[in-house]
Amino acid sequence: MEANTEEPTTFSEEEQNENLELWALLEVMYQKYGYDFRNYNYSSIRRQLKRRMETEGIDSISQIQHHVLNNKNLFHKIVTDFYINVTELFRDPAFFNALRNHVIPILKSYPSLKIWHAGCGTGQEVYSMAIMLMEEGLFEKAQIYATDVNMEALKKAQEGIYPVELIKEDSHNYLEAGGLETLTKYCTVNYGNVIMNAELRKHISFFDHNLVTDSSMGEMNLIFCRNVLIYFNNNLKQRAIRVFWESLCHKGFFCAGANERLLGEENQNMFDVYDDKNKIYRKREAA
Ligand SMILES: C[S@@+](CC[C@H](N)C(=O)[O-])C[C@H]1O[C@@H](n2cnc3c(N)ncnc32)[C@H](O)[C@@H]1O
Repeated sequence: MEANTEEPTTFSEEEQNENLELWALLEVMYQKYGYDFRNYNYSSIRRQLKRRMETEGIDSISQIQHHVLNNKNLFHKIVTDFYINVTELFRDPAFFNALRNHVIPILKSYPSLKIWHAGCGTGQEVYSMAIMLMEEGLFEKAQIYATDVNMEALKKAQEGIYPVELIKEDSHNYLEAGGLETLTKYCTVNYGNVIMNAELRKHISFFDHNLVTDSSMGEMNLIFCRNVLIYFNNNLKQRAIRVFWESLCHKGFFCAGANERLLGEENQNMFDVYDDKNKIYRKREAA
């Protein structure tokens, strides 16, 4: 079993047994269905499984393994649990504010813009960026690529339809992020849903991309991969960071999530820290 570097290095016997059960379950999911969670962070996977076990009345991870082998329905529920897609419009408003004030002015000097949202989930992050680009006069020269491994999330992203209850909190985020209008300018409310204006999708292409297996994409000026790396173990995180480094143009920007740390001993020569507090980095050439 590969060491999971996100985990403590000493385990009780009970924890060691549970880790082995987890390892066997992830191997089964890979061998039988081709879904590879073997390099995801065990703590997060364990948390999701415990919740699912409670809902389904299952007592142990090895019992889950038995069910997964024989019950495709449960397998799909577990996969959906593992692809945590909690998100919101202008999530972490301070980050979007920093982007508006310290990154957008630099992007304004570029003749065209290529932006990649890796792990875009249900799309709120992408719509937030599209709105900001519109307000800053950059939308028409931008090409935005929104990718995720979870096809259900990606479909929702493409549709841009969200429950109306969320708009109040999101409107608050938008204003805190330095929004120049009101959020309702960019959507319509219909039968309990908020529908994002189709115009926002004019320069967005949605497609699937798996950070476990797929490679770099084009010459991006800006890459977002927020609240995704936190679910990977260090091996997979380093793989993804290499893909992002290869996908960025000279001095391209990379944005991580509020609780993520991009740089460690193994990759500190790949990026310069641009805004430590808001987790914004810039590609360094020599890696
Ligand atoms: C918590 S959401 C983050 C959404 C958005 N970036 C944000 O910060 O609000 C995590 C997303 O990562 C995606 N994800 C998980 N594993 C992935 C992988 N191997 N490749 C690409 N996306 C992945 C999930 O499907 C989910 O949509």
